[in-house]
Amino acid sequence: MSTDAAIRVRGLEKSYKDLHVLRGVDFDVATGSIFALLGSNGAGKTTVIRILATLLKADAGTAVANGFDVAAQPGEVRESISLTGQFAAVDEVLTGRENLVLVAKLRHLENPGGIADDLLARFALTDAGGRRAGTYSGGMRRRLDIAMSLIGNPPLIILDEPTTGLDPEARLEVWGAVQELARGGTTVLLTTQYLDEAEQLADRIAILHEGRIIVNGTLAELKQLLPPAKVEYVEKQPSLEEIFFAVVGNRTTGAGATVAAPAAETDTTRKERS
Ligand SMILES: Nc1ncnc2c1ncn2[C@@H]1O[C@H](COP(=O)(O)OP(=O)(O)OP(=O)(O)O)[C@@H](O)[C@H]1O
Ligand SMILES: [Mg+2]
Repeated sequence: MSTDAAIRVRGLEKSYKDLHVLRGVDFDVATGSIFALLGSNGAGKTTVIRILATLLKADAGTAVANGFDVAAQPGEVRESISLTGQFAAVDEVLTGRENLVLVAKLRHLENPGGIADDLLARFALTDAGGRRAGTYSGGMRRRLDIAMSLIGNPPLIILDEPTTGLDPEARLEVWGAVQELARGGTTVLLTTQYLDEAEQLADRIAILHEGRIIVNGTLAELKQLLPPAKVEYVEKQPSLEEIFFAVVGNRTTGAGATVAAPAAETDTTRKERS
């Protein structure tokens, strides 16, 4: 089955007991693009991703990844995608390079050392490659995690909140890594609660709210949802944050498009020291 969508999701539904989390989710991710799935805490982003990664079964609807149906062909889906979860799979006792070599060996690839060195260079970790991963900063660790998930060249990579808990500098490093992936032709589906992250990285942005995708488009398309505010003849383009709160607020209250004040960002940067 060949299609120009790397991911095709239709009518996806999922409940946890009485909690109806997904109520008919539809979206496509074009091959080679970066697609951001936005949503508040508990909106169901990880649930969508777990279904796509075959870790969870949907109650209804279909999801196709790389042309393989997640329910009917889970083995093929798993072989063709790579999932990087919120918690890094990095072994802290090993060096960065050893982590990469280990994964390459586990996947029975030839020349694991060469693969490791290539990836270290791609993610600006060559100098740190000989150090124990336990000594890495959050941004370095996340970049190593993404590098590990690329071993074997999966055409589709799914990143669940790749920068949550990272400081601004580390977030920039991870953004660079994601852009590097897309330049190499990899399709990227990422979830995020950071609206500026979607604004910076994504070719397309979808907002998951109350079980459905309520908005899906390019940043330029999303901006057309809100007219630019005119202040003394100077046009101010709406930020994605303003659009997000306007559409989400709309759905919640059923009221007009009042733009809520942006919520203060609480960064829970974890300091990990062994
Ligand atoms: N295994 C589970 N059993 C019961 N409820 C669950 C389970 N997994 C998730 N939920 C609930 O389903 C809802 C959606 O969870 P999910 O993790 O998909 O949201 P999310 O959008 O990824 O949120 P976050 O931004 O916090 O990561 C939440 O209310 C969550 O508490
Ligand atoms: Mg989540």
